[in-house]
Amino acid sequence: PPAGWSLEADVVVVGSGIAGLTAALRCAARGARTVVVTKARLDAGSTRWAQGGIAAALGEGDTPQQHLDDTLEAGAGLCDEAAVRTLVTEAPGAMRRLIASGARFDTSPATGRIALTREGGHHRDRIAHAGGDATGAEVSRALVEAVRQQSIRTVENALVLDLLTDAEGRAAGVTLHVMGEGRHDGVGAVRAPAVVLATGGMGQVFAATTNPAVSTGDGVALALRAGAEVSDLEFVQFHPTVLYLGPDAEGQQPLISEAVRGEGAHLVDAAGVRFMQGAHPLAELAPRDIVAKGITRRAAAQGTDHMYLDARHFGAAMWETRFPTILAACRAHGIDPVTDPVPVAPAAHYASGGIRTDLAGRTTVPGLYACGEAACTGVHGANRLASNSLLEGLVFAEQIAERVGEQLTGQLAGQLGEPAGAAPGPASREAEPPGAAPSAAPSAGASPRQAVLLPPTARAEIQRIMSSGAGVLRSARSLTEAAERLAALTPSPDSPDVPDAKPAEPGVDTWETANLHLVAQVLVAAALRRQETRGCHWREDHPDRDDTTWRRHLVVSTPPGGR
Ligand code: SIN
Repeated sequence: PPAGWSLEADVVVVGSGIAGLTAALRCAARGARTVVVTKARLDAGSTRWAQGGIAAALGEGDTPQQHLDDTLEAGAGLCDEAAVRTLVTEAPGAMRRLIASGARFDTSPATGRIALTREGGHHRDRIAHAGGDATGAEVSRALVEAVRQQSIRTVENALVLDLLTDAEGRAAGVTLHVMGEGRHDGVGAVRAPAVVLATGGMGQVFAATTNPAVSTGDGVALALRAGAEVSDLEFVQFHPTVLYLGPDAEGQQPLISEAVRGEGAHLVDAAGVRFMQGAHPLAELAPRDIVAKGITRRAAAQGTDHMYLDARHFGAAMWETRFPTILAACRAHGIDPVTDPVPVAPAAHYASGGIRTDLAGRTTVPGLYACGEAACTGVHGANRLASNSLLEGLVFAEQIAERVGEQLTGQLAGQLGEPAGAAPGPASREAEPPGAAPSAAPSAGASPRQAVLLPPTARAEIQRIMSSGAGVLRSARSLTEAAERLAALTPSPDSPDVPDAKPAEPGVDTWETANLHLVAQVLVAAALRRQETRGCHWREDHPDRDDTTWRRHLVVSTPPGGR
């Protein structure tokens, strides 16, 4: 345990998107002394940027079963059906509770009921939205307000470092690096017998992403160092329609929501020809891996790197009311979607994999839970269905809170944090041949490892390596080269001639860079190992799906090199 300040709680929630704040609210409602720690401001994570909405079978004639069918189809044979069933059956109730927490969704003027739209892979209008295309911002606003109203203790500007464990190896809290002013400056700790990782995604591991700057894979890296199992990291979803700002664009890029296609926008090439018709029965609304591939293929065939989204036929009034955020973002970059087709290209959007959990959000480390994008509950399989991400954060945060609440009331004495492996086996594991949970990296036991800190200058290099070697198109060659270049970034006393060869000084930048480096290495190792094309993992050298060998998950439980 570090010197410095320390807080005591029943549960510490790391992260403040829909998953983290829902977990905090529901845990607090069950009487748990709850502390939320978050790396920047409470509303700085990915949730605020979500445009499209939240999927739930709320429409007339729609059912959780149909939502389940669409989710399984998008997941390309790797979804855990039991987890998906939990997701879709809990969805309508979880939406009602979110509304009760203060979130306001758009309603249809005709019926007064929640207005529902369609997105890729959905066969029904099922996406609830807010503020037109500002769903995440509204959800974030409502949850932050609710957390403040409940006087839940929050620590902002606090980067989580590592897991604290007790003598039996159970989670006992987290260490933190707190930045900026305030009484909690420096290194500190929150001690709690339940730790919920809701740290979001890892989009910043790539050069161009829809994710905000805070999405650096901190929770997954922490889990790996703590010996928790991580699964499916090779399945990175590239959103097909991200505003194209040139070949050298880096960092967070403006998203053009799939809902724009849901309302009838067309994908066209520079000559104005639609190219998704014929590629899939749902054309522009095919699952997003198919659309991302369609764009990438058409662009490559025409010697370019982007295509266009044409929604001029919406007219100014519809753009202004239905998609005000996107309209403003395009105009800020000198593109007017009312008069011009919008240049678009795929960019890293969502980590379908993450920290492996069971249906109650439990990881393989007792007392450690995960939810939201940081987790791999099994609902997304090889490719997440549109607008299932906010929903997953919402639903599984509530499952975790139930479990934490049960512990507090003593109903589960001695069972809190039972490892995922000891829980009833999810269906996805049945898809694995016995004993086949191959590690994508050498396994060296489950004891906590120390991070090797990298200089912040390595971050841009990691992002370049990942975008060129492990992007939409992958091959053994590109991935091997990426793995070698990533390994060469590790500071080593054996390479005294290499500048920056010494471990970097601890600091937020260096920790984040170390986390990016770690998750990048595990991701590349898994992508190299999976010799097939499935969902959002596209291997040019193995273009077919191989259900005989690869209908299983790649599970990793220790960082590369055993550190
Ligand atoms: C979008 O609005 O297109 C993004 C929705 C999602 O990622 O589910």
